[in-house]
Amino acid sequence: FEAKVVKLKNSIKNIPDFPKPGILFRDVSSLCQDKDAFALSIDMLYEAFKDEKIDMVVAAEARGFVFGAPLAQRLHAGFAMARKPGKLPRSTLEESYDLEYGTSTLQITEDALQSGQRVLIVDDLLATGGTAEAMIRLCKHFDVEIVCTAFVIELFDLGGAVKIKNDYNIETFSLVEFPGH
Ligand code: PRP
Ligand code: MG
Repeated sequence: FEAKVVKLKNSIKNIPDFPKPGILFRDVSSLCQDKDAFALSIDMLYEAFKDEKIDMVVAAEARGFVFGAPLAQRLHAGFAMARKPGKLPRSTLEESYDLEYGTSTLQITEDALQSGQRVLIVDDLLATGGTAEAMIRLCKHFDVEIVCTAFVIELFDLGGAVKIKNDYNIETFSLVEFPGH
């Protein structure tokens, strides 16, 4: 497992001072461009959840779709998209979350999940946890079991995992961990 994590880590480019001075940006797009690293990331997520009887994967637009959709297919689960506002053509539920400046919103179709389903929440990266929390709250509109929230990258000292555990009693799983600064 550790050797695989190192391989993933090495495929993630670090961009200093993006999107603003002092931030070291962990660029998941370089992982996706590496065919072995991309396949490995999906394999490792699959291994972690293959025995969890996942019915549905819920992932956040945009980068969450990159990992959520192939993982859902491997798990033979359905895939529900938590989208940025104004994209879904049918009735939606929505939840807002705080960004550094202002707020953002995710929406999901109101028939996205069915009562009793086991749901895995997926995103590329866990930072403050705002995006993941919005997905949790979207799922909580339905009578479902949230099995875990799963990420490729976790910026562990930004407190997202602790917040998700404390506020919702939901576990997080991540493949690669970096400090947040
Ligand atoms: C990024 C990333 C996560 C989120 C993590 O998404 O893909 O979804 O931020 O940050 P948080 O834990 O503090 O919420 P972003 O909305 O920037 O853009 P995207 O559309 O490229 O996924
Ligand atoms: Mg995102």
